[in-house]
Amino acid sequence: MRTQVGIIGGGPAGLLLSQLLHLKGIESVILERRTRAYVMGRIRAGVLEWGTVEVLRDAGVGERMDREGQAHDGTGIVWAGKNRLFIDTYKYAGKRLMAYGQTQITEDLYAARDAMGGVIIDEAAKVTPHDITSDTPYITYQTQGETHRLDCDYIAGCDGYHGVSRPSIPASSLRTFEKVYPFGWLGILSETPPLPEIVYANHERGFALASMRSPMLSRYYIQCPLDTNLDDWPDERFWEELKARFPVDLADQIVTGPSIEKSIAPLRSFVAEPMRYGRLFLAGDAAHIVPPTGAKGLNLAVSDVYYLSRAFIDFYVNKSTRYLDSYSAMALRRVWGAARFSWWLSMLLHRFPDQTEFDRRTQEADLDYLASSEAAQRSVCEQYAGLPFE
Ligand code: APR
Ligand code: PHB
Repeated sequence: MRTQVGIIGGGPAGLLLSQLLHLKGIESVILERRTRAYVMGRIRAGVLEWGTVEVLRDAGVGERMDREGQAHDGTGIVWAGKNRLFIDTYKYAGKRLMAYGQTQITEDLYAARDAMGGVIIDEAAKVTPHDITSDTPYITYQTQGETHRLDCDYIAGCDGYHGVSRPSIPASSLRTFEKVYPFGWLGILSETPPLPEIVYANHERGFALASMRSPMLSRYYIQCPLDTNLDDWPDERFWEELKARFPVDLADQIVTGPSIEKSIAPLRSFVAEPMRYGRLFLAGDAAHIVPPTGAKGLNLAVSDVYYLSRAFIDFYVNKSTRYLDSYSAMALRRVWGAARFSWWLSMLLHRFPDQTEFDRRTQEADLDYLASSEAAQRSVCEQYAGLPFE
């Protein structure tokens, strides 16, 4: 088989890239390791920057998002059991946020790719890129035990943190940066009406977050130790702990019910540089991971794909490699902006096991300063709402 862009990974990054290329007449094939049911069943992020909303609309997959997603002017922060602040991104950055699940975006993208005859090979095993520094790269993979070869002009590595693309770059040509946080988030999804706004809580018992997916689907998280066992957290215990971390009036508004999903995710920051090696280009989680605080993971995957699709379009339509050549540097500027912001917000909102009294006081001073300074809020809003695309 032959195509123009071989895409490894059928998560949001790979699907969106294939869709944006198709709209400009550029061919691609997606090779996805898992079954479609598995990919669509994953519960992941849910807060979109307005730049992401616009890219999804331009990709022709905005219809359900505009109908079912919930636009917000910003996000709440509460601390010390009583203090509160609204990070008003609409007022200070002129941009709203959209609560709409990655699960739904993935469904919308699959539906759009299918409707347009997009080629997605599910359950592709042993996917391996070859000759990536030559002008004729190719990918081999297996389906039902048989080996196939996909020849292409370029390879897009959209296969997430555990994929094959990043490891196929020689270690001597790749630099990685990592920070591991000493806790995780225990999250649940429940078919109950959410609080009207997304609210982050810094509490002495640990961080908590109230979020949403739809008017009848809530997403809540609590900070937990890394060795937490899910079996120790029946729903009743989760709700009790969650409520204990919010001010009483907000806790009283939380509607509890049975959870339909419960999982633990460790927090980590990771960036790999560069995001290009020969004819292989990395996008999304394949190149970087941010802690979930600030909801930047999916938004970064979308901005990478926006830059990468523009680069391929410029190459195929205008015969220029200008954007392909600047892709890594341009994408990394935005990646580091979001990595810094996610790290900063994580430091601001969590309780660290080794925190001294001094650390606690400076954290509280940071929150008080944010609450009292319009300049500080404007800066946070600019980053929370999403830095502009170059
Ligand atoms: N071969 C083929 N496909 C693979 C391989 C492989 N060796 N390894 C992984 N994949 C597939 C995964 O099964 C997954 O469907 O690549 C896809 C990667 O998707 P994601 O992990 O969702 O990554 P990405 O598309 O970059 O999405 C961005 O933003 O909110 C965050 O982490 C969240 O998934 C989200 C991400
Ligand atoms: C979520 O809804 O899953 C969510 C919201 C805000 C965050 C992180 C996750 O900062």
